[in-house]
Amino acid sequence: MSVKIEYHKFDVVVFGAGGAGLNAAQVASQYCSTAVISEVYPTRSHTISAQGGISAALGNLEEDHWHWHMFDTVKGSDYLADQDACEYMTKLAPQYIIELEHIGVPFSRTPEGKIAQRPFGGHTAEFGKRPVKRACYAADRTGHVMLQTLYEKAVAQKTQFFSEFYVLELLVNDGAVNGLLCWDIQNGGFHIFHAKAVVFASGGCCRIFKTNSNAHINTGDGLAVAMRKGFSWSDAEFIQFHPTGIYLAGNLITEGVRGEGGILLNANGERFMEKYAPTIKDLAPRDIVSRSMVKEVLAGRGVGPKKDHVLLKIDHIGAEAIMEKLPGIHELALVFAGVDCTKEPIPVMPTAHYQNGGIPTNYKTHVIKGFGSNPEETVPGFFAAGEIASASVHGANRLGTNSLLDLVVFGRTAGEEAAKYANSISFVPLAENAGQEGVELLQKFLNSNGENTFGPVYEELRTVMETNVGVFRTEELMTEAKEKLQVIKTKMDNFRVNDKSSIYNLELIEALELNNMILVSQALTECALLRKESRGGHAREDYPERDDANFLKHSEVTLDKDGNIVVGYRPVRMKPLTVEPFPVKPRVY
Ligand code: FUM
Repeated sequence: MSVKIEYHKFDVVVFGAGGAGLNAAQVASQYCSTAVISEVYPTRSHTISAQGGISAALGNLEEDHWHWHMFDTVKGSDYLADQDACEYMTKLAPQYIIELEHIGVPFSRTPEGKIAQRPFGGHTAEFGKRPVKRACYAADRTGHVMLQTLYEKAVAQKTQFFSEFYVLELLVNDGAVNGLLCWDIQNGGFHIFHAKAVVFASGGCCRIFKTNSNAHINTGDGLAVAMRKGFSWSDAEFIQFHPTGIYLAGNLITEGVRGEGGILLNANGERFMEKYAPTIKDLAPRDIVSRSMVKEVLAGRGVGPKKDHVLLKIDHIGAEAIMEKLPGIHELALVFAGVDCTKEPIPVMPTAHYQNGGIPTNYKTHVIKGFGSNPEETVPGFFAAGEIASASVHGANRLGTNSLLDLVVFGRTAGEEAAKYANSISFVPLAENAGQEGVELLQKFLNSNGENTFGPVYEELRTVMETNVGVFRTEELMTEAKEKLQVIKTKMDNFRVNDKSSIYNLELIEALELNNMILVSQALTECALLRKESRGGHAREDYPERDDANFLKHSEVTLDKDGNIVVGYRPVRMKPLTVEPFPVKPRVY
């Protein structure tokens, strides 16, 4: 290659600076040299927008047990979650929350000074009998305070940050992952980060949907660079649609609103969730609430001139409680819906919120090979945590607040495991052509002078995904999506980036992201077409029942050597790690 590349060497390189990446980095930095590569300044990562809380059976306000939390997680996942990972996460949750408290996360408090907890969708006591207060929170800015604290901790541990670096290629030699090729957005130029261990923590892909609650960086870059090297994306078809996105804008209105007493109303003023989930009503798991909202609209009971949304009412808990516990929501509703929620209801509809699947790992965050290999077999040097990864604790539908818990537990584990691994091996040399693919990809777009530009292709893609692969899916809709996506893909071969500079060329970055989003959309649609059942967030009108006989299995999708999308399956791990009898004495934390 004739281009200039700057080389760096670190024991551990983390891709992504959200909660999972920062937690992995702050832990790994305690044992070995660690760098974080992030497309944005770390505290602008998407974790910042997590609002309502982080789950842990602390039992601060009422009796709770990790067994109940594990049960809810497995049931909420529609039985697609791996139960060893669910046990690992829910059992460690209380200890790790206390650890967060000790490093400075400013949780809201009970009057006695304990960490405050609120109810959330699908969180129950006694194995589904009644709602329980399990979500630990910092008003409605839980992700925000966690991200700031973890960043400070990582800086204190001397983690090295490379902010505004865009990852182009995952480097692999002799079957081992050993680095990343990146583009320095700010200054221009290629960089290779040679590493003993690489941790993927780059977040999700929900920007592929027109209405979404995600940051602009959530374009599925991590998935795309992994698939280009033949690594898989597991359970790609399972996207979580959060019920309460602000109508038309998509921004998240936390489930904490319903946890604090908010209710959903249709055009007749009826609290319709009483009909769909009589026990837990508005606090049913998200997939159920989202589908119920769409059903109300389809039945003609939607609100507004177009009868196309429903209302979230919270004013009855009082302005003082709203301003104390939900100040961010008050602001968001005012700015994006023009509504003062202390007086009026907020117009809402489901919004694409979370990628339930991801790069498959075991519960210790080692990426697994998949595709017919022994499910225990892992990829040397490759770890993943957070939304990009699938341990898998979310299965077909994630419970609210388990995302922050996932990134804390598995982020920490990834840091420990990657550091342990890095300290046990020597550097695997870089392959002769390391980085060539990524360099060529960037140059292709930088030098492109075709007809299609970012805006129209981006809008077309996101509209197809929303319309044809959204809350309700059918063979017909998704086959149409597949055809349209193929046409959209060809547009990238006749593309144009007008800005030819190398300094802060965001048009170039958008082109690279769009290219990844198309691949991610195609992979997702293929898996969704093949799963001929309804489970969790994957609701097929043509196959309305769950089909355990044929589909109690994880999908895996990747690219073969010729660049074709291929799909395989892997069994769900149905056994927990241990068999600890229940009831146990409540633990004291
Ligand atoms: O509703 C919320 O606050 C979102 C939480 C989550 O996705 O876990």
